[in-house]
Amino acid sequence: LAGPADFLGRPTPLVIGHRGCPARRPENTMASFEQAIAEGADMIELDVQLSADCQLVVIHDATLERTTNGHGLVAMHTLEQLRGLDAGGWFDPRLADQRPPTLAEVFEAFGQRTLINVEIKAEALCLPLPGWTVVELTLAEIARCGLERTTVVSSMSFDALLMARAINPRLNLAVLAHGPKPGIDTAMLCQAIGARAFNFHISSVTRDLTESLHRAGLLALPYADASVTPSAMARALELGCDGFFADDPAALRAMIDKQ
Ligand code: G3P
Ligand code: CA
Repeated sequence: LAGPADFLGRPTPLVIGHRGCPARRPENTMASFEQAIAEGADMIELDVQLSADCQLVVIHDATLERTTNGHGLVAMHTLEQLRGLDAGGWFDPRLADQRPPTLAEVFEAFGQRTLINVEIKAEALCLPLPGWTVVELTLAEIARCGLERTTVVSSMSFDALLMARAINPRLNLAVLAHGPKPGIDTAMLCQAIGARAFNFHISSVTRDLTESLHRAGLLALPYADASVTPSAMARALELGCDGFFADDPAALRAMIDKQ
């Protein structure tokens, strides 16, 4: 049972640049998103969190050490402090000018050129702030930039998705989880919130899962870490997945174009 032939105007299977193009550029930077689009990505994926002064910043970890030259929690730094950090030098000294982007900056540069999956990090709901703050601000930014039809909001926090749905009944949502939860019908869970897709770790791909999602009109979109092999990606597509959050968008594009 095949899935939807297209999604938000792009034919499936979708090439999704996972945090941009982390195979060749530092993740979640402007350089990384630019590279993913240049390599044929249909969509870019990014992670959003809040700075100490409630600004939306694009960065994956709750702490700064792995992907910047800063230290400590993202949420303990103001936007000005975060913008002073080097988010590229750890990957390549020639990219030391890369800063952690704001969500607005990414939307303004790429919103008209590609689809964007905004993952609201669950950590951003655990600040000493009402949990809906990061959700409200993200949705306001999507609306301000006129990107309601070309963005998807996902989160490991089902509460975040419930809040997003309560704020905007038309928003494209995706449920994000490692995999199906025991005793819960994943397709029904997605439908209950009006989601368009289920995003899950590649280790959970089965034909039963993709077919039950397709019967419900949903996309099956796996992600993986950098160690995923081309054969594992090809197998996921064979099992009916409708795209892939790829660290190497060019490799996935080449694989899909050969099919
Ligand atoms: O949205 C899919 C994927 O990005 C989730 O994993 O750890 O890369 O945010 P992670
Ligand atoms: Ca992510």
